[in-house]
Amino acid sequence: MDDAPGRCVDHLAIIMDGNGRWATNRGLPRLVGHRRGAEVVRTIVMAAPRLGVKWLTLYAFSTENWNRSTKEILGIMAIFARYIEREADRLAMNGVRMRFIGDRDALEPKLQKLMDGIEARTAHCSLLNLTVAINYGGRDEITRAVKMLTQKLACGALSADQINQESFAACLDTQDLPDPDLVIRTSGEFRTSNFLAWQAAYAEYEFTPTLWPDFTADELEVIISRFGNRIRRFGRVLAG
Ligand code: IPE
Ligand code: IPE
Ligand code: MG
Repeated sequence: MDDAPGRCVDHLAIIMDGNGRWATNRGLPRLVGHRRGAEVVRTIVMAAPRLGVKWLTLYAFSTENWNRSTKEILGIMAIFARYIEREADRLAMNGVRMRFIGDRDALEPKLQKLMDGIEARTAHCSLLNLTVAINYGGRDEITRAVKMLTQKLACGALSADQINQESFAACLDTQDLPDPDLVIRTSGEFRTSNFLAWQAAYAEYEFTPTLWPDFTADELEVIISRFGNRIRRFGRVLAG
């Protein structure tokens, strides 16, 4: 547990919100906003290591986002596929390990294949751990983890008295990730929308009115520098 002032954000998580409004404000189709949003992802991924970030987790599509129009959903999925195809070389070259969390069974087989491919291709990279949440919902993840835990109990791999926070967290999609230190949400909304429900229990939060397509590495730098002044107590009473 690190409460020293001036510390870095080891694990940054971002709820990238506001693509639709960015486009609508300009009289453009929502998908134009999603496309612009993907360009900002490229910028932030490249800027993150310079700002001391080692883990970057991005909320790209929630389990609730299936409630949008088919046109928007298909358009977003196509953007994911294109991002993976176009960015694979650059990510590998820059030491970025890319992973995904969320339930991928519901995604198109072609997209699943691309996701598996880039995970394997960048598995050796270690400068930045990039995790993209697609078809991700905190409640869904916890429910799937309970199912996995039950299976472990049923087959004898785990006994009831071995159920604790560690063995439970090992059943989550984020089993290989540390908990986030800071969660940023863009677009002026003050909610978590089902993001990292278990993992962000002790995260710090920052909310910015900036719509995701307008978000910049400069704004990220300002937010990260503010994080250094936060006092993280983790329930303790600090001396002095
Ligand atoms: C975030 O932007 C991207 C996704 C949720 C897929 P939105 O599409 O939610 O943009 P707004 O909130 O409608 O402006
Ligand atoms: C949260 O944004 C999900 C992502 C950024 C992927 P939403 O736009 O879906 O959230 P709500 O509907 O405003 O809560
Ligand atoms: Mg939104």
